[in-house]
Amino acid sequence: MIEIRGLRKTLNEKRVLDGVDLDIHEGTSLVIMGPSGTGKSVLLKHIVGLFDPDEGDICVEGMSVPKANGKQIREIRSKISYVFQNSALFDSMTAAQNIQLGLPAEHCRKVYALDDPLVLEAVSMVNMGPEVLPLLPSELSGGMQKRVAIARAIVGRQKYILFDVPTTGLAPVNANVINRLIAQVQRETGSTSIIVTHDVGSAFFLGDRIVLLSGGKVRASGTPGELRNSEDPVVQEFLHPKLEEETVGE
Ligand SMILES: Nc1ncnc2c1ncn2[C@@H]1O[C@H](COP(=O)(O)OP(=O)(O)OP(=O)(O)O)[C@@H](O)[C@H]1O
Ligand SMILES: [Mg+2]
Repeated sequence: MIEIRGLRKTLNEKRVLDGVDLDIHEGTSLVIMGPSGTGKSVLLKHIVGLFDPDEGDICVEGMSVPKANGKQIREIRSKISYVFQNSALFDSMTAAQNIQLGLPAEHCRKVYALDDPLVLEAVSMVNMGPEVLPLLPSELSGGMQKRVAIARAIVGRQKYILFDVPTTGLAPVNANVINRLIAQVQRETGSTSIIVTHDVGSAFFLGDRIVLLSGGKVRASGTPGELRNSEDPVVQEFLHPKLEEETVGE
């Protein structure tokens, strides 16, 4: 379980997170939505210790991330994988090597990435064939790069997977493919996921619970049904944006 309590963070004199409380229960998926610049990525980065909170705490299975020493932070990070907002593949490494980075360093030193059975299994789980493994990211389409990033996130069978806008920049048809893939990974691995998305349809498809962040706080939180029935005008505005706002963002 991941517990976030009273999380506050100011960056560049701007209060980005202003007292966020969240619980993410094992085996469930939590979707985080909210306007651009509202601190969704900053929140995810706190969970793996890439940011330190000004106030508050983040606990992963009872271990405080901000209070963790080097050894403890490595232990916490070994439980969590992260699909970054821009896929973040290494451009001079093949797809196979990028995927293998999701495995412990001692494993990577011993096993050649292209022949690694764990890499082959992960690439097939994201519905691609082994022919993509020797290719560089520049030789892959945006959708294929996302799949490689997801394969890297699942190859190590970490318990928690953080997806930061996994469908950014994809055509809607490809975004649906990635959403189905995330749901399939969740079913097959029983992982606990936190998914940041800008897309209401994806949120309702993927989330056991959905949280709407606004003004650095949790504005609303509930099951998809509870959010749909919310009488909060900010929630309704977010779920049913006016036509001219639909083209904003990804
Ligand atoms: N490393 C950083 N240093 C300083 N400010 C930062 C840093 N990272 C993010 N910020 C600021 O924190 C705020 C929240 O950024 P964040 O990236 O979390 O937004 P977001 O909700 O993920 O937006 P989007 O939906 O566009 O991805 C922004 O004002 C951003 O400029
Ligand atoms: Mg972001």
